[in-house]
Amino acid sequence: METKTPSESRTVITDLVLPSETNAIGNMFGGELLARMDRAASIAAGRHSRSIVMTVAVNHVAFNKMIPLGSVVTVEAQVSRAFNSSMEVFMDVWIEDRESGMRSKSNEGIYTFVAFDKIGQLVSVPQLLPETKLEKERFEAALRRKQLSLVLAKKMSPKDATELKALFTEE
Ligand SMILES: CC(C)(COP(=O)(O)OP(=O)(O)OC[C@H]1O[C@@H](n2cnc3c(N)ncnc32)[C@H](O)[C@@H]1OP(=O)(O)O)[C@@H](O)C(=O)NCCC(=O)NCCS
Repeated sequence: METKTPSESRTVITDLVLPSETNAIGNMFGGELLARMDRAASIAAGRHSRSIVMTVAVNHVAFNKMIPLGSVVTVEAQVSRAFNSSMEVFMDVWIEDRESGMRSKSNEGIYTFVAFDKIGQLVSVPQLLPETKLEKERFEAALRRKQLSLVLAKKMSPKDATELKALFTEE
């Protein structure tokens, strides 16, 4: 079975926030950030699987900081776990201060992609071998997130979500 590391899928997209991408009070429109995250995540999932990929779920996004017009926004995406045909992609979003060049984290996001061949059949993807402490933590938690996403989508019965249930049961 082929394996890949998270760094092999690492994708970084940096771009400005333009006036047409802001809301009524001059901050970045949430949907614009979601689209940038989807593009970065899609490239990361494609690099991992070397297949055609599609977003199947947006598992989590929180907008923790306002991002003003003119900001330099960087989305960093990498595969955090691979299952059979699906892959979880974790994203970190950074804003760069134009004067100091200092970067601060604005938010994180987690999307799930599936891999297809040219005739639209789901295909297996390489397994992921996490290396760093953070990669290992994200890898470990990904199965719980997959189960939660499947339960919410009514594609899994809560009784079968064993990893997820373990979070709520005392040792
Ligand atoms: C992706 C799609 C084929 C999945 O259909 P499905 O009937 O759920 O197929 P399966 O049950 O075989 O699931 C395929 C994989 O996706 C995973 N998956 C499906 N729905 C999921 C969800 N809501 N959250 C997380 N993973 C999900 C399954 O667990 C499975 O993963 P695995 O092979 O690694 O175990 C179907 O939902 C689809 O075509 N969606 C449209 C995608 C799209 O157009 N995206 C662009 C956005 S506009």
